[in-house]
Amino acid sequence: MRLRGRKGIRESLESQPELVVLDGTQYKGRWNEFFGNDRPIYVELGMGKGQFISTMSYRNPDINYIGVDMYDELIRRGSEKARRIWAEKGVDSPPNLALLRANIEGIEEIFAEDELERIYLNFSDPWPKAKHARRRLTHPRFVAKYMEALNDRGEIHFKTDSQSLFEYSLNSFAEMELLTRNISLNLHKDELRDDLVPTEYEMKFYERGQNIHRIEVLIGEQAIAAWRSEKRSAAAAEAAREAQRSDDDADDESEDGEA
Ligand SMILES: C[S@@+](CC[C@H](N)C(=O)[O-])C[C@H]1O[C@@H](n2cnc3c(N)ncnc32)[C@H](O)[C@@H]1O
Repeated sequence: MRLRGRKGIRESLESQPELVVLDGTQYKGRWNEFFGNDRPIYVELGMGKGQFISTMSYRNPDINYIGVDMYDELIRRGSEKARRIWAEKGVDSPPNLALLRANIEGIEEIFAEDELERIYLNFSDPWPKAKHARRRLTHPRFVAKYMEALNDRGEIHFKTDSQSLFEYSLNSFAEMELLTRNISLNLHKDELRDDLVPTEYEMKFYERGQNIHRIEVLIGEQAIAAWRSEKRSAAAAEAAREAQRSDDDADDESEDGEA
């Protein structure tokens, strides 16, 4: 029977301690104990109804996921969705997923330094009025907190339909002198990028034909070093291809000369 009303929702949440966490402070610095392993932890801040985080946990069993939202009802709906998705594998409770009811304002009370490897911000509230800028989840005061919680391989992945929030966020990341990559102003221009797992809001905007903006922000030293080495390898491979093309052109020219 589906429980209804505020009391019913709370009872439903309290009855699922293996999936739902109502007091995140108890796990600060100990989230590995919640999951029972030391795998990397990826967090979605403001998960809504949980489509993204549930699908990610299902697709990537070697990563631990935490979906955060501040509303009981959304956590309840998220728990139903997660169980429905995992039921396809015959699993009742997702082993690598936690749904955390918490206000992101207090994120430093929930995650210890270096405890997270990735933070997803998907379609965060844009707070369009200038006087509300401090509430935007990409405001430097929030980014500074994310930087504390993220480890050496840490990254922030951000998607939004809001051009003004995207512009604001680019400036916020630049102000903090952060490295960014894979910037897109129209993520799904060729076809729906299902590999990046669309969220509920994303599908709504995509179906309306609105552009989705996306960016990755590199935080940890190792993440930055890995990216630099990737770029160096790509540049070396391109130089080798270019040298080969020049050799081929020279051969063609000498053959033409001999003919
Ligand atoms: C626009 S919805 C996006 C939901 C989902 N990420 C998606 O893309 O479909 C933003 C979500 O962030 C949550 N949220 C906003 N501010 C928050 C805060 N300070 N703490 C926790 N959750 C918050 C809201 O409750 C809402 O579910």
